[in-house]
Amino acid sequence: MSELTTTAMPIDTTVARYRRVRDATEALAAPLSAEDQTVQSMPDASPAKWHRAHTSWFFETFLLEPGMRGYQVFHPSYGFLFNSYYEQVGSRYPRPQRGVIGRPGIAEVASYRHHVDAAMVELMDSCPSPDTLALVELGLQHEQQHQELLLMDIKHALSCNPMLPAYSPDDPGRAPGRLRSVPALAWMEFDGGITEIGHDGNAFSFDNELPRHAASLAPFGLASRPVTCGEWIEFVDDGGYRRPELWLSDGWALARAEAWAAPLYWLAADGRWEVFTLAGARPVDPAEPVCHVSYYEADAYARWAGARLPTEAEWETAAHTGTDRGALSTDTTIRAPVERSDGTGGSEAVIAAMHPRPVGTRAPLMGDVWQWTQSAYSAYPGYRPAPGAVGEYNGKFMVNQYVLRGGSCLTPTGHARPTYRNFFPASARWPVTGVRLAADR
Ligand SMILES: [Fe+2]
Repeated sequence: MSELTTTAMPIDTTVARYRRVRDATEALAAPLSAEDQTVQSMPDASPAKWHRAHTSWFFETFLLEPGMRGYQVFHPSYGFLFNSYYEQVGSRYPRPQRGVIGRPGIAEVASYRHHVDAAMVELMDSCPSPDTLALVELGLQHEQQHQELLLMDIKHALSCNPMLPAYSPDDPGRAPGRLRSVPALAWMEFDGGITEIGHDGNAFSFDNELPRHAASLAPFGLASRPVTCGEWIEFVDDGGYRRPELWLSDGWALARAEAWAAPLYWLAADGRWEVFTLAGARPVDPAEPVCHVSYYEADAYARWAGARLPTEAEWETAAHTGTDRGALSTDTTIRAPVERSDGTGGSEAVIAAMHPRPVGTRAPLMGDVWQWTQSAYSAYPGYRPAPGAVGEYNGKFMVNQYVLRGGSCLTPTGHARPTYRNFFPASARWPVTGVRLAADR
């Protein structure tokens, strides 16, 4: 597990963290009935109940069975039912059919979680090795990924119900997925040069963020904030979904086949747009970041706007700007973000003519929406997956997908970081995916 590094923590801190993450999953599932937790709306999604069980299976399979003497699995069939994609662990039940599994029900899944939790606490109390603790952390990071997936998947399932039921109707302000309004667009300008990207240090990272390595950048500009719904409406009104010259061939074919006319979850209502959210349907807010767009739509929008999508090296370089881990080497300079975080600065040369708007406060790159990059999801130079079955976690998916950066409003607090590489196929629309523009300089 040399690729999975984590800062050593006292055991009681690890146990407390374990309980916090596990409890957070249960809190997310709490508003959902047994029926809600059983439904599966498409092959890419999984029932909420399955997420709760699968995250427990991960601890059982990779920590308790190999590492705890005398551990008894909760049920002999669960290894088959709740293995997601680990070929080296054994066969598994097909993902597209997870929604037909009525039993185990949610009470049995809760018992499964309790069984695993009790054993995990015992394991963590038994002076585990650093490698074991690193695996515990991987299991927790894995569970946090599934917390976002649980919300993405239930949102899709609820959206398929003509009644458009809300996940959290009583308190829409606290429903996960509430987006913040963003300021006016400005451009951050960067000179080219040699930069470094990838994780370093002792804090946790996934293996796909390693190793840190050099990357060469040409001069580029990066938008200070994601594209908004208001801007997306301009794209729609300008025939963005009807103009093949804006689209990649595969994207155009899919958009035609599925009759795309707006982002997923947008609903035309009496001449205006509404959007389905976890708090129910409401009017589209022009000031919030657009989300639930595919790579194809993001790319078409960028072309329409006279821009392009950023590479992941550009995105990460910009995300590190102003931090003490500044990613640019000495032969490279940043010509100044439009407005520095300390309120000083600004540059005469940085306001792009493409979208002449008032200069606003520079928005952070993290949060709100995952941002499509034009970078294919592939191995960094020198990448080595972890040995054994857990090495299937990331590496075997490095084909036919694009990297997304930044985290979203559904990502658990503290889970994402500037080097974090999320990935989805170009067609995916059900993640909280948005757009940040880039441009050549
Ligand atoms: Fe998983």
